[in-house]
Amino acid sequence: MYEALKREIQSFENRTPGSHAAHQRASHRLPLGVGSNFRIYEPYPIFVRDALGGRLHDLDGNEYVDFNLCFGALMAGHCHPAVVRAVEERFKTGTMFGMPHELEAELAEEICARFPVEQVRFANSGTEATMHAIRLARGVTGRDRIIKTEGAYHGVHDSVMVSVKPKPDQFGDPEAPAQVPSSAGVPAGTIANTLVAPFNNLQAVERLFERYPGEVAAVIVEPIMMNVGICMPEAGYLSGLRQLSSRHGALLIFDEVKTGAKLARGGACEYFGVKPDLVCLAKSIGGGFPLAAFASSKAVMDAIAEHKVFHAGTYNTNPVVMAAGLATLRQVLTPAAYDHINRLNQRLVDGHRKIITQAGLSAYAIGAGANGALMLYPRPLRNYRDWIAIDVDLWKHYWFGMVNRGVLPQAHWWDEQWTISVAHTEADIDRHLAAFAEVAPALARAQQERSPKAESVRAGS
Ligand SMILES: Cc1ncc(COP(=O)(O)O)c(C=O)c1O
Repeated sequence: MYEALKREIQSFENRTPGSHAAHQRASHRLPLGVGSNFRIYEPYPIFVRDALGGRLHDLDGNEYVDFNLCFGALMAGHCHPAVVRAVEERFKTGTMFGMPHELEAELAEEICARFPVEQVRFANSGTEATMHAIRLARGVTGRDRIIKTEGAYHGVHDSVMVSVKPKPDQFGDPEAPAQVPSSAGVPAGTIANTLVAPFNNLQAVERLFERYPGEVAAVIVEPIMMNVGICMPEAGYLSGLRQLSSRHGALLIFDEVKTGAKLARGGACEYFGVKPDLVCLAKSIGGGFPLAAFASSKAVMDAIAEHKVFHAGTYNTNPVVMAAGLATLRQVLTPAAYDHINRLNQRLVDGHRKIITQAGLSAYAIGAGANGALMLYPRPLRNYRDWIAIDVDLWKHYWFGMVNRGVLPQAHWWDEQWTISVAHTEADIDRHLAAFAEVAPALARAQQERSPKAESVRAGS
């Protein structure tokens, strides 16, 4: 670890003794001291006291402008008044029934009005949404295999815990990646059924279809890869997947857990003008509550209606979460909200670009809808294997530097991205940029010192 990074981490430790103590306590009773593996990082994670709108406070009372927003699940911001009101009302009339009620159809109608789908079933997490969508695709086609993207994350059920972050010594041929288990405990048979292709590589997908004729139930893809910062689909990639899937009798599943609410009212389907067979939604559609959905045509969803494919869940469509979802889609994520967020994101991306150039940093900034990222990479990423070349220490230097200046720029981990919420203001964007302007020159210096060219010059001198 280099000196400038060490200084930022020391400063973080000086500012956050409360988080350190809370983490030590939690570590006795929770593996890693956290409730989800993505929340742990060195030296210890920030523990939260409270959050409201676009602001968050840690246990030591430090305030952050929050662009992490629960891994992008809070385009509504924390505790949006419309969501809070709707939920408070529902608290008085029963929190769960395990019986039908009218909010279910209301929310399904809202989703069908935004996305090119005819029917919806609800769930409680993105993991559930992709799990049910894949089972439905298997049930409808009578096939077992699926194709997923190398490096893509679709939740933690067995079928998609394959090649999520495969290591270079495991991932094999770039044109035909190996199927690498991402956790112990995933059955070998399941791994064999999850075929892997690189993002932005239609030929690799086509080869898999040809190698396993009549065996592939579905292609599941995140329309913008948001598990490697932000990696955009090249022109023709998503429509190419559409054509290949149709030609080979497989269903195309868009995992819109992250993109769904945040790219446009109709998610990636609208943004890219491509119609998948199944759409998976979660995160920002719930306005801060555990709401997820998978949706498709009536013809596909009929497999559920005909009792061919089973879908159920005690907590599905509980009225509190349905009310939160309805308030979010009807009152928060309005056309005006998208305009506001797009404007702020443009300001943030443009500001980053200016600072990157001024500092001489080899990096780029990219935005899409409510999402954006500083990518410490010299040119636009094409796939997961580009992303693994990112200098992780440099990224940590950026993240701790921003956090020490009161801006939570994104979730910790260089595979994430920032989220703009309806609660953010121009002043918040300018604060974000001011912090980056302070950090960028030190980053550029560190980058130059650490570049292989600089090392060979040093070694030769
Ligand atoms: C693209 C994508 N799909 C699925 C999931 C899983 O969602 P959840 O964490 O709600 O299970 C995530 C979570 O980050 C995601 O980013």
